[in-house]
Amino acid sequence: MSGRFHYYEGYTPQEVIFPIRVLKMLGIKTLLLSNAAGGVNEDFNVGDIMIINDHISFSTPNPLIGKNIEEWGTRFPDMSEPYKKNLVAKAKAIGVKSDIKLHEGVYFVVTGPTFETRAEYRLIKIVGADAVGMSTVQECIVANHMGIDVFAVSIITDLGIREDDNIITHEEVLEAANAAEPKLAHLFTELIKEL
Ligand code: HPA
Repeated sequence: MSGRFHYYEGYTPQEVIFPIRVLKMLGIKTLLLSNAAGGVNEDFNVGDIMIINDHISFSTPNPLIGKNIEEWGTRFPDMSEPYKKNLVAKAKAIGVKSDIKLHEGVYFVVTGPTFETRAEYRLIKIVGADAVGMSTVQECIVANHMGIDVFAVSIITDLGIREDDNIITHEEVLEAANAAEPKLAHLFTELIKEL
């Protein structure tokens, strides 16, 4: 996929996840996702890549709300391993081999389109997240529902937690995401070879 639908654009959660349903019908077994995210872990720098090993979702609606179609998946899906540990391990090994610094951490999803206030960044950090962004989780939930393995990474495009310097613009987010693209492309290319 080139791009995705975001909840903040006004799409319903069902519209946001529709491509994942289609990909499943086309037979995919593994879903690789990437996003731009704000770093809340103090060890992160702009341009770093974080492998997502879990998420916290309190603000965007769960896309499975509504009638469940049993042939697609169970009513109450397990979410104990939303991002597959074996894929995380493979990616980390590729990072070491290719000299790409990779963090691992928890992604906190917000609706956007506003970036977070200072107090919100502080809260997100306190509840145990490492990065914050406006996508990925609804797709991840539906992939888990349908039995697709998920691997996801965040490119850290800004550091909202730095209180003295936390004015964030869309331009800087785009610039940092574009700069990190070659590293991400390499990681994904190598990971796909191992699937
Ligand atoms: N917050 C939310 N979403 C984002 C951010 C952020 O700081 N950076 C890129 N996407």
